[in-house]
Amino acid sequence: TAPTPSTSFLAGRRVVVTAGGTREALDPVRYLGNRSSGKQGTELARAARQAGADVTLIAAAMDVSAPEGIATRRVESTRELLDAVLEESTGADVLVMAAAVADFRPAQLATSKMKKSDDGSSPTIVLERTEDVLATAVQQRDNGENLPGLIVGFAAETGDESGSVLDYAQAKLERKGCEMLVVNQVGRDQVFGQDDTEITVLYRDGAAPVTAHGSKTDVSVRIVELIGQELDPDTV
Ligand code: CTP
Ligand code: CA
Repeated sequence: TAPTPSTSFLAGRRVVVTAGGTREALDPVRYLGNRSSGKQGTELARAARQAGADVTLIAAAMDVSAPEGIATRRVESTRELLDAVLEESTGADVLVMAAAVADFRPAQLATSKMKKSDDGSSPTIVLERTEDVLATAVQQRDNGENLPGLIVGFAAETGDESGSVLDYAQAKLERKGCEMLVVNQVGRDQVFGQDDTEITVLYRDGAAPVTAHGSKTDVSVRIVELIGQELDPDTV
């Protein structure tokens, strides 16, 4: 038989990728959501598939369609995403958290549509924190659950006067406890919906950061190669 081509470096690996933005219901017809297009996550799923992995895509709300030929599970809320991630990534090798997860949800879910009141007043929406899917997966894995040994987070950061993008990203990596963190620098008109991107990958074990830029497709291929290297330094 022919030697395995280097493009199949993830053959035999199970990879779970989350994509899109979670939506938190306010009432039966309204939600709080975000502008994630789902492009980065779907491109990562495609690149992992291309590298020979058995891929499951967990898709929250996306503008793009789910890739053909990749098992896709749809979710809406952060709670649903958490349940899907814990279930689908049990026994998997890699979890890639590219989804834009809501940080807050309405504390009360109205069971019927909120109506305007006759006195002209407006409702106040009280929010509560959502579950941290990434941090929960890391914690449960570290507590002995059969969850991926390689968990990859994403962070869209802006620097400010008290810290650079990479300072904030490094702190986030330590807070989350994942093995790799892919950092996108967010500026005006960058990242959300755009096709050109620059990323830096930070490693929990202190390995030197790696930078890549190009289309979301190019960058996804590179991230998947780095995942392959992390799983097995002899490949790629
Ligand atoms: N994430 C998650 N669950 C949440 C929030 C974020 O799993 N409730 C994941 C995202 O999918 C991403 C990573 O955590 O992989 C970082 O997301 P980000 O929004 O940058 O981090 P937060 O911890 O929410 O911090 P911030 O206050 O900067 O938004
Ligand atoms: Ca957040």
